[in-house]
Amino acid sequence: MPGIVLVGAQWGDEGKGKATDLLGSQVDYVVKFNGGNNAGHTVVIGGQTYALHLLPSGILTPGVTPVIGNGVVVDLEVLFQEISALERRGVDTSRLIVSSNAHLIPSYNRTLDKVTERFLGKRQIGTTGRGIGPAYADKMQRVGLRIQDLFDVSILRQKVEAALMQKNHLLVKVYNRRAISADDIVDELEAYADRIRPMVADTALVLNEALDRGATVLFEGGQATMLDVDHGTYPFVTSSNATAGGACTGSGVGPGRIDRVIAVIKAYATRVGAGPFVTELHDAAGERLREIGHEYGTTTGRPRRCGWYDAPVARYAARINGVTDFVLTKLDVLTGWDKLPVCVAYDVNGSIHHELPTSQSDIHHARPVYEYLPGWDQDISGSRSFGDLPPNAREYVTAIEELSGARISVIGVGAGRDAVIQRHALI
Ligand code: GDP
Ligand code: IMO
Ligand code: MG
Repeated sequence: MPGIVLVGAQWGDEGKGKATDLLGSQVDYVVKFNGGNNAGHTVVIGGQTYALHLLPSGILTPGVTPVIGNGVVVDLEVLFQEISALERRGVDTSRLIVSSNAHLIPSYNRTLDKVTERFLGKRQIGTTGRGIGPAYADKMQRVGLRIQDLFDVSILRQKVEAALMQKNHLLVKVYNRRAISADDIVDELEAYADRIRPMVADTALVLNEALDRGATVLFEGGQATMLDVDHGTYPFVTSSNATAGGACTGSGVGPGRIDRVIAVIKAYATRVGAGPFVTELHDAAGERLREIGHEYGTTTGRPRRCGWYDAPVARYAARINGVTDFVLTKLDVLTGWDKLPVCVAYDVNGSIHHELPTSQSDIHHARPVYEYLPGWDQDISGSRSFGDLPPNAREYVTAIEELSGARISVIGVGAGRDAVIQRHALI
């Protein structure tokens, strides 16, 4: 079963990094196919914590070839900072390959991300400020810069000048900023050309040939279903396709080669940044989830908004991604509650929706319809089989599994690599 896609089912930070790491020893390639350093994956191995942003989580597993696919947007400074930081900790990053078609995030896109947000005021998205949206906008507007442009300085200069023509008007006339010089941008980007050259490859060719040989390839999504630019809570989304379809366009591998789609889902829900969140808690219960679950952003350190499990979102994710297996994370965080609310439907002005409403306004106005499940008190962090869990924890898992549209194959009971319960093999 060689082609496996792994995505987030909710609003990100479900524990995709840990799930990828868990599969690491069984896969040959881990491909990041969307997003950039807006992602933040925390992986805990043997008491050591690693925070990854731009690099695929597979980089932590010896023998795995990590791949940055064409669908990713690359901030070169961040890429090399991250590589150097891992190298200093003894992680071998020498296998990394990067698509020549991946787009760059020149510093002007970071600037534009920040000024656009400031300009939006109350209507801001709450982006990570990493230039992600402007870089994807440039790609679609056909004024983006690609990795391959680094190796032809006259082309690079022409493209930078073309991109800056519009942007400088915007920066100077609308945002009252200084114009950016093309020379500075060319210098900034060119400084990395020699260092990245040996990593650059036709990654689509490499991956297709690997699949031909029977190698196992894991496509690791950044962000998540509800942040997908097409399927998420637009406009409160990121600017890429974080759902399973993005694995094909973002890597150059056809859909027929995907055999399994794993979605990672938290036993409750969190969101960073603005946008609708039907089960959000604004009370002590939300704070308790945040504290026990350490729900602070890996990338920006912002406190994550917290709420209860949302089954309509889970079913939506199952449908949009064609999920074959869920990895349910952070069940341990739910220890110690009398009863656990699970959202089974939305109430929109008195009308009950069992599936996500098609109108974004309805999602903004929806109220959760809860069913209450009995909680448990026993520490479950040492559980390693489903039978080890207290009966009410088993009931919680079984109940949300029935509501969520795919089987729950793995259950996370702690941050460490080994803190999992395997119910069904993922590979
Ligand atoms: P990602 O962006 O989807 O990779 O997720 P993040 O790394 O941003 O956030 C998930 C956090 O939960 C990380 O700090 C993980 O170490 C942690 N984590 C993952 N699985 C579990 C679990 O089952 N239990 C607990 N307590 N923590 C977990
Ligand atoms: P991982 O991969 C959680 C959110 C931002 C903001 C919106 C748009 O760690 O799950 P962007 O900078 O992408 O233009 O911001 O998307 N966001 C994330 N939230 N986890 C992430 O990544 C995120 N990446 C972006 O908070 O609301
Ligand atoms: Mg994260």
